[in-house]
Amino acid sequence: MKKGIPNHIAVIMDGNGRWAKARHLPRAFGHRKGAEALRELLKSAIEIGIPYMTFYSFSSENWNRPQSEINDIMGLLRRYLQSELATFHKAGIRLKVIGDRSRLADDIVLLIEDAERQTLNNDKLTVVMALSYGGRQEIVEAAQRIANQVKSGSLNPDQITENVFEQELYTRDIPDPDLLIRTSGEMRISNFLLWQLAYSEMVFVEKNWPDFSKNDLLTAIGEYQKRDRRYGSAAETA
Ligand code: IPE
Ligand code: IPE
Ligand code: MG
Repeated sequence: MKKGIPNHIAVIMDGNGRWAKARHLPRAFGHRKGAEALRELLKSAIEIGIPYMTFYSFSSENWNRPQSEINDIMGLLRRYLQSELATFHKAGIRLKVIGDRSRLADDIVLLIEDAERQTLNNDKLTVVMALSYGGRQEIVEAAQRIANQVKSGSLNPDQITENVFEQELYTRDIPDPDLLIRTSGEMRISNFLLWQLAYSEMVFVEKNWPDFSKNDLLTAIGEYQKRDRRYGSAAETA
């Protein structure tokens, strides 16, 4: 059976630093170019008609980078949220941010809350930004919340099902990704959506993120459409 457009595409936007290095530019230029690539790709996603997209923007481990690079990325994020909100809203984008907000600057948290509130009822494209996000941390926090429910007597251990657990993840109202794309030739997950990617198809692209275009997105979707998703059952063709 021919598959259509994926309902949810998750993207690990990797290779900004290498993009800059290849041009003898500081890494900050790569991040800036990466933000431009994201802006263009969102337009493409709407044109193609993809309902959900999640972007890995900053991982829990990225806090270990030099402070100057963290400042560059956070500055870019701040400006991005300020300058793009009106465009997002007009384009019908609903923004949702997942990750550990306690590590983000207060003004950035306020910008995020404002953007989420303003775009809440938009329904063209849901854009999930993973920021200060780590998959293990997300699962541990979910376990803590469930443990508290058990402790308070509102939940029995035998009531903890996959569905109950999922309700405690940041992504409780977001369907699992059908397709994961990672740029820059690296073939690893790097602590992204560990629970949610259980049965996602994965496509790895050699290009660095700032060079990733609508055509590359369409090629990745074409690759996805050729895959036989079995979910552990016997092959369709067997
Ligand atoms: C991805 O590009 C952006 C972030 C992780 C914030 P990198 O900064 O990881 O670029 P490379 O992998 O060093 O080329
Ligand atoms: C993953 O890329 C995080 C983001 C793209 C935001 P990294 O560059 O941090 O991952 P590793 O270190 O190569 O695994
Ligand atoms: Mg990287």
